[in-house]
Amino acid sequence: MAKREQWASRTAFFLAATGSAIGLGNIWRFPYICFKYGGGAFLIPYLVALFSAGIPLMILEFSLGHKYQLSAPLALAKVHKNLEWLGWFALLVAFGIVAYYTVIMGWCFNYMFHSIKLSWGENTGGFFYEKFLALSKNVFTIGSIRPLIFAGLIATWIWIVLSVWKGAKTVGKVVYVTVTLPWLCLLIFVIRGLTLPGAIDGLSYYLTPNFAALKDPKVWLAAYSQVFFSLSIGFGVMIAYASFLPKKSDIVNNAFLVSLADAGTAFAGGLAVFSTLGYYAHTTGLSVPDVVKSGPSLAFITYPTIISLLPFACSFFGILFFLMLLTLGVDSAFSLVEAGTAGIIDKWKKKRIPINFAFGIAAVIAGLIFTTKAGLYWLDIVDYFMSNFGLVIVALLECIFLGYLYREKGIVALREHANSVSEIKVGKWWEICIKVVTPIALIILLVLTVIERIKGAYENYPRLAEFLGGWLILIAFFVVAIILNRVRSKGG
Ligand code: PHE
Repeated sequence: MAKREQWASRTAFFLAATGSAIGLGNIWRFPYICFKYGGGAFLIPYLVALFSAGIPLMILEFSLGHKYQLSAPLALAKVHKNLEWLGWFALLVAFGIVAYYTVIMGWCFNYMFHSIKLSWGENTGGFFYEKFLALSKNVFTIGSIRPLIFAGLIATWIWIVLSVWKGAKTVGKVVYVTVTLPWLCLLIFVIRGLTLPGAIDGLSYYLTPNFAALKDPKVWLAAYSQVFFSLSIGFGVMIAYASFLPKKSDIVNNAFLVSLADAGTAFAGGLAVFSTLGYYAHTTGLSVPDVVKSGPSLAFITYPTIISLLPFACSFFGILFFLMLLTLGVDSAFSLVEAGTAGIIDKWKKKRIPINFAFGIAAVIAGLIFTTKAGLYWLDIVDYFMSNFGLVIVALLECIFLGYLYREKGIVALREHANSVSEIKVGKWWEICIKVVTPIALIILLVLTVIERIKGAYENYPRLAEFLGGWLILIAFFVVAIILNRVRSKGG
């Protein structure tokens, strides 16, 4: 086999993996999911999911990529030839996610320019829904493409393709900036948020546990899927990234560091958003849960509010903030391009650059629907299905296949491998998480959620919209993955 590309240093790998994990998921998605599922009600399931499923699966994915030195589809094929499809399925789900993820980055590009004049004025919510998105009445009133959002999407993709130009070599350099800059920025926002009047009401919504909500399976499934989304697990990304590591690299340590850095950042994002939400409620006289119409818009309403309220240099901080979101997002988005490209290169030994371009073009086309006037609705539906079903199914099947059906080359070999290179050794607790706790939890949650979806459509969207934006995409991905599994690889 040709030389596999490699990270230049351990730091490059750590930053790249952290960069993939920390993204819009922490600053945009985490606060809105937390908000949607009752604030303080969410943190406990989130922490349970992080420690029982997130970190153990991160160790599993790192070990799989590192041991077999292959990206998701072929690494799984090493475990058993009939498992390759799961790797493709993961990459396809990830593709579905990155298609709308980059549209949100396109919003950020626009908001960076809006920051110059603070164009959102006092009514940041009205500006976002009416002026910026021109949100239509319902999902099927698609209207036209919003040209500026489309332009933002294109700009995002140009940036992504340039960042992965030479694979791990380029990525390893870019992440030094895209990981460190956002942390500094976030700190400023947390401090400003916490010192606003009314902040305390927002914080108490965020931090007061609500034990009654723990009985609701929706909250738990949302917590697991948020953990997977945020840690980039179930996307095939961490498998590919670990496959570029030199032979002697610590796995377990890195898995803990990346996961904890990610969770810490999400928590900080929550502090910034909820304190501002408290302020927003305080000035409008609404209660905290009534401030926001639809979850995905949360960050685009609260953060502009904080920006306008900064004591000085508002525009400067506005630009800095949206640049921060972009730098956070870009390394997550390109991690996925890297994972997809590596999957194709491993299988068909193709040249990297044309694949990167093809990937970008396909994703722009897939993303068009999210740039229309009904884009926000579609985004909400696709995000829900890809994360709650797509990622969760991948994670569940990884546990079942690697933990039981093909355990010799799966969990047994991977544990041995992880322990042979890592300082911290994984023991029984890890196997129990992968084999018992996580699969049982995920199966129960999936079944309950499917029942709920049979009873009623997600968020009362029309059934047809739910089918097109959710089930149909999942089924199509499954079929394509199976077909790819059957195609013979070059030289293999
Ligand atoms: N982990 C990323 C985040 O939290 C999500 C992501 C992963 C997006 C991989 C694309 C590809 O934002």
